[in-house]
Amino acid sequence: MTKPMPTMQQIQSLCKRRGIVSLGSDIYGGFGNTYSYGPYGSQIKKNIKDLWWKNFVENRSDIMGIDGDIFLHPKAWEASGHVAGFNDQLIDCKDCKARIRADHLVEDSLKMDCEGMSDEAVTKLIKDNNLQCPNCKSENLTEARKFNLMFKTELSKTAKAGDDNFVYLRPETAQAIFLEFKNVVDNTRAKVPFGLAQIGKAFRNEITPGNFIFRQLEFEQMEIEYFFSPPKNWTENKEKLMSLGHINDWDEESRNHINAQFDAWSKDIDNWCEIVGLDSKKCHAIEHAPEKLSHYSKRTFDIEFDFPFGQKELYGCAYRTDFDLSQHQKFSGKKLEYRDPQTNEVYTPHVLEPTFGLGRTFLAILTSAYEEEKLEDGTSRTVLHLKPAIAPVKVAILPLMKKDGLPEISKEILQDLQSFGACEYDEGGQIGKRYRRQDEIGTPVCITVDYDTKEDNTVTVRDRDTMKQERIKISDLKTYLFTKYFG
Ligand code: GAP
Repeated sequence: MTKPMPTMQQIQSLCKRRGIVSLGSDIYGGFGNTYSYGPYGSQIKKNIKDLWWKNFVENRSDIMGIDGDIFLHPKAWEASGHVAGFNDQLIDCKDCKARIRADHLVEDSLKMDCEGMSDEAVTKLIKDNNLQCPNCKSENLTEARKFNLMFKTELSKTAKAGDDNFVYLRPETAQAIFLEFKNVVDNTRAKVPFGLAQIGKAFRNEITPGNFIFRQLEFEQMEIEYFFSPPKNWTENKEKLMSLGHINDWDEESRNHINAQFDAWSKDIDNWCEIVGLDSKKCHAIEHAPEKLSHYSKRTFDIEFDFPFGQKELYGCAYRTDFDLSQHQKFSGKKLEYRDPQTNEVYTPHVLEPTFGLGRTFLAILTSAYEEEKLEDGTSRTVLHLKPAIAPVKVAILPLMKKDGLPEISKEILQDLQSFGACEYDEGGQIGKRYRRQDEIGTPVCITVDYDTKEDNTVTVRDRDTMKQERIKISDLKTYLFTKYFG
């Protein structure tokens, strides 16, 4: 039976009461849609990052990791097109001073897409249809204008920067990877095709952050730039191919060359979704229409996910051509080419970029895992059906009583099992309540130490999902848990 979709209220209230995620700067009443990950939340987040790194970097011989800077040379953002083009259309409500994203207002009110429309056309659309501020319902709105999403900050006098001394906080991790390309090619044995992966913070001055951790000003991305050879005859045909909006309009050979990369990455992304336990029925691959492609892309598909507030972008996979390397080559004056060791051919590699938002992965995992289950005895429990690798606590060890040597035996078992990851010892309260607390944070297995343990060296092992209990010898515990949960 399929579980009902949880509401955002259910997810947020679980996150708050169990210290998974809470409002940033909570004691000051919160601040600008920031959220802080508590002990369980930060462990889940780390588990996701570790799994991603293992799956895409450590388990593959064609991808290496890097850790680039948040501050890049300001010229890099001119080269990448972010200074000129990383904009949303903003309108302000003159009455309540709310900042509103014009495309969201049009989409929500008129159910139409206004991407690519000029500021004038969007302003007219809003006026002609008497659209109102979603906050106070006033029609007293400013005209639409472009708003650059990059945060700017100032360097100290001694540091070198652009002419005006400003630097940007990176709005994507990708550009740090492009800037590292030359070092990697010059100083490692990397051979095209190869990928560079990075996990790190990105910052966007979003006009309307919201939906909990879905859209934030400060968030983490896990990105790969995968470098591969250009289609044959690219050099002669570049101008013509770049003038066509989408690879579907390219010749068959060039199109197949790019689509082979998409096919491989599409499988890898599906596999990743399964690894972290995303409900496959909630994941949808959606192609971008040619007119909706970013300035650097000739084909992009997103993985959209059925979040409690609707189907929205979770991940993206974009073909960025040789746009970024060519632009950085032009702006830096440094050659960013590759010489094929077999053919001696020299070219600027093309790039496929699979990009994964960490916060959105976290939210999609919680959405997939959350259940309020009605039990046979008429009570109910909240349970997170997390994959063991994602669960913040792997095993909980619970002495039946706080006396008679049971805590001591429990603590010995705890020490022995910590090689599986974080384990928790809990001796407070009724055993049933203690099981419920562990169910709520997704602990796959609980171990209860009782009076029989003292007689026969066995413990009760309780499975989170089935709630079934088994008696297992302490000496067999590690093998049993490894085989069933952590192998
Ligand atoms: N390098 C390409 C790039 O940055 P993007 O679609 O703008 O592409 C990539 O962002 C991913 O980052 C998204 O698919 C999403 O998961 C995540 N993301 C983007 N903006 C976000 C925000 N404001 N808050 C949280 N996650 C965000």
